[in-house]
Formats: sequence, structure tokens, C-alpha cells
Amino acid sequence: MSTLFDPVKLGTIELANRVIMAPMTRSRADEQDLPTDLHVDYYRQRATAGLIISEGAHPSKDGKGYCRTPGIYSPEQVVAWKKVTDAVHAEGGKIVCQIMHVGRVANPENKASDAETVAPSAIQARDKIFTNSGMLPMVMPRALTTEEVGTVIEEYRQATINAFAAGFDGVELHGTSGYLPAQFLSTGSNKRDDQYGGSLENRLRFVLEVLEAMCSVDGAAKVGLRICPGNPFNDLQDDDPQETFATLLDAIDPMGLAYLHIIRLPKGPVDNLALAAEHYHGELIVNDNYGCEEAQSVIVAQKASAVSFGRAYIANPNLVRRFQENIALADFNPGTLYTHGADGFSDYPNAD
Ligand SMILES: Cc1cc2nc3c(=O)[nH]c(=O)nc-3n(C[C@H](O)[C@H](O)[C@H](O)COP(=O)(O)O)c2cc1C
Repeated sequence: MSTLFDPVKLGTIELANRVIMAPMTRSRADEQDLPTDLHVDYYRQRATAGLIISEGAHPSKDGKGYCRTPGIYSPEQVVAWKKVTDAVHAEGGKIVCQIMHVGRVANPENKASDAETVAPSAIQARDKIFTNSGMLPMVMPRALTTEEVGTVIEEYRQATINAFAAGFDGVELHGTSGYLPAQFLSTGSNKRDDQYGGSLENRLRFVLEVLEAMCSVDGAAKVGLRICPGNPFNDLQDDDPQETFATLLDAIDPMGLAYLHIIRLPKGPVDNLALAAEHYHGELIVNDNYGCEEAQSVIVAQKASAVSFGRAYIANPNLVRRFQENIALADFNPGTLYTHGADGFSDYPNAD
């Protein structure tokens, strides 16, 4: 019988335990979208997790949505991320890079002046986004041409090449929260009439081709996918998320990915954990609002291979030890989630 603290292998990635740090955008990158020495400290401090999934990193300038987020498209970013992965590896940890293209979830205020906001269709998300000038509306995106869709898929491939060059142990496709892959999957944001829109088969094509591109770099066993069927975040709307994601999972099941990272949504239209159990037979990471006890029970019951923790990792760098020794968790300061500097980022102490 395995427990939360036992090793597990996700594809070719060997984890010392099943406590995973969930991906979290923290807006600490510098002006060139580079991770800094603060990131080196922050991720090193959390390296006792069985696996760290990095904050979302954009595969192109167009893919950036939030302020001060790091990229994974330039040679300088590869060098800067290498310092992070080296630090995590020196502590015996593992880290994968989450690749995140926001599509229409954007305002130019947060992007380079020569970047564009692109999406499957020219349909504006009816929502606002955090910028240095406060909350601003998301702008009308330009619909990608069929040829440009191919270019974006190539950007994901190049980002994967870059992530491995930077020393990451794997890559994760961010497929939820209303960002570009989710925009292609969903009927409300995808009104295309080429092979990337219209029928369900066509709406799935972008995600499947991106995964194939990512897997082409160093095999499928280093590639994960994160989804949350039925998630309405960032004005996402799909007529039938149960059917969309059941069909997507049937399609990716034979690919041999390292893992599926599934976020449960108790009040959503789909029972996401049941959907994954029925349609996916590989390694599962489950997420959202787990505590140690519940996480332990899903591992013991073999309902998941590992559990990821987001908010608990903000103020508890050595969360594994807190869980093992039943030490109470520290609370994080919500006021410093997306601010500058070490304050509320890399200055939370370990439990003694
Ligand atoms: C500050 C913050 C930033 C986040 N950024 C990301 C992100 O970049 N990519 C992503 O997939 N999820 C992101 N999430 C969602 C978390 O990965 C996780 O799904 C969520 O916090 C629920 O897990 P928890 O209950 O353990 O906190 C973020 C969450 C928080 C709190």
C-alpha cells in the first residue's frame, strides 16, 4: 500500500514523494520576462516536494497575459531558468515547466509593445485582468489564421525544447482557466470554420497537435496535461464540457503522457474526478482544496498517483515535513501574492 510520502514515477519523472507543488503565477519576473534570483530561492526552498510544477511560462510574447510573468521563448530565459532548475536539483527535487499561452485573456498593458492578442476567434472575453494600472478589460483578440495556428503549435514545441535545455524534468500544458487551449476546446470562444473549429473533432485538434508537438521533443513520458472540465474562469463557456473532455481524454489516453493533472470542481457541471477515472488510465495528479488527510486517503485508495497543493505551498516551503510531522500550516498574506520582491514570496520560513 502506497502513502503520500512514498516515491512514484510519472512517466520518466521519478518523484521522492507524492506531494506536488501546483503551478502558481506570482508576478516576480523582471522586465525581460526572466526569472530572477528570487525565483531561485523560492523554488529551492520548496524542493522537498516530490515535484514542483512551475508558474505558467509563456511560449511567445503574444502568449503573455499577466504582468511580470516569466517566458520560456528566449535564450536569456533558458539561461535564467537553468539557475532555478539547478537549485532544485541540487536539493534532490524535480521540476517541470508549465507552458501557458493565455490567448484572449490579455490587455496590452501587460505585454511587450510589439505583442498581439490572438485567439481562435475574434470574440472578446467579458472580464477584467490585473495590470500595473489596476483591473482593465480584456481586449478584442485577432483570430489566428490557419497558418498562424501552425506557428503557435511550433511555439509550444520550441518552448518544450527550451524547457529541456533549461534543465526541466518535464513540461506541462496548461489546458484550463480559459487560456488558449481551453479557448480552442470551447464552443463559446471557438467559432472557426477551418479544421480547428466547428465539430468537436475539430475543436480538439489544437490541443492534440500541441501535445504531439511537445511529445515530439523528448517523448510523451515527460509531458503532462492540466485540465479542469467545466471551469468558467475568464469567461469560458462550452455547450457540453462532459462530452468535450470525455472525447479529449479518450484521444489522449493512448498517448502515454507522464500524467494528467485534473482539478476537481465540486460545484461545476462535470464530476471531473469520475470523468478522469472513466476516460484516462495513466498516472493522475489531483488538485483543488486537498488537505493532508484527504490527500493521504486518495493515495491509499489508489484513486490518484499524487496530489498537488497550491495555496498551502505559498507560506509553507517545507510542506512535506509539516504534513509528515503534523505541524500546523502557516497562513499566507493575500496582499503580497502578485507584488514585487521577496516579501511574501521567498521570505516565508520553514517549520522548525
Ligand atoms: C496565486 C495563485 C496563482 C496561480 N497560478 C496558476 C498558474 O500559473 N497555472 C495554473 O495552472 N494554476 C494556477 N493557480 C491554480 C493553482 O495551481 C491551484 O489549482 C489552486 O490554487 C487550487 O489548489 P489549492 O486548493 O491547493 O490551492 C494559481 C493559484 C494561485 C493561488
